[in-house]
Amino acid sequence: MSATVSKKKHKQAGPVARLLRSLHEQGMRRTLQSALSIAEDWVFDWRHATDTVSRVYQVELDFEHPNKASAHPYIPTRGRAFRKLLSSLTFPQDSVFVDYGSGKGKVLLLASKLGFRRVVGIEYSPELHEVAVANIRRYGATDASLIEPVCCDATEYVLRDDENAFYFFNPFELDVLQGVLRQIKDSLGRHRRKIWIIYFDPRFKEAFEKGLGAWQTQMFTYGGYEVVVLEN
Ligand SMILES: C[S@@+](CC[C@H](N)C(=O)[O-])C[C@H]1O[C@@H](n2cnc3c(N)ncnc32)[C@H](O)[C@@H]1O
Repeated sequence: MSATVSKKKHKQAGPVARLLRSLHEQGMRRTLQSALSIAEDWVFDWRHATDTVSRVYQVELDFEHPNKASAHPYIPTRGRAFRKLLSSLTFPQDSVFVDYGSGKGKVLLLASKLGFRRVVGIEYSPELHEVAVANIRRYGATDASLIEPVCCDATEYVLRDDENAFYFFNPFELDVLQGVLRQIKDSLGRHRRKIWIIYFDPRFKEAFEKGLGAWQTQMFTYGGYEVVVLEN
């Protein structure tokens, strides 16, 4: 399979429509910040010869999967917002970062520079997973074993005992999220430890409390993003 996602037709708002909507919803200052972040992400791909920035909608992916109807499109986290947020959090030495729904792997590349012992990406689409593998190769991380892209459904990923920082950029609907929360709960049952959940664009944040109990919660806003960070 090629490391370039096949393009089927998907109707989406054009750049002018998106600009007008952003000016209307976010105002001038935030729209300018967003424009800078977008430009930075394009420059990232150009500098590293990677393919992370372009969106991929699920209808463009040529495969069948029972959880496809619950899957959100591949849209990368903006690099600027990710770095800003992660630099404001402190993790213990030897922490392991897991991106649930890692897509083309942009967040894996960024997290690999932040001192984690390992960075794991879970992506259910074989096509997107292959693009991530090619991106990791092109990006040339110094330690090849640092980044581990795994092609598997998020609900089936069995967490390892050292994995403690879990990242979600609104990857799927509630039914799949609940399956993932069961995996996290089971993992904590096997090996009690301190865990962080970093949830960008947190549409189902109540599900975490229902699934895991009341954890310490912090809210952040970066550019147009709302982010919730939970700690047990
Ligand atoms: C919004 S994108 C986030 C990409 C990446 N985490 C980032 O922040 O740049 C969501 C990703 O989750 C993936 N995804 C959706 N459902 C999934 C599932 N059940 N298991 C694993 N990945 C899934 C999608 O294919 C897509 O690549």
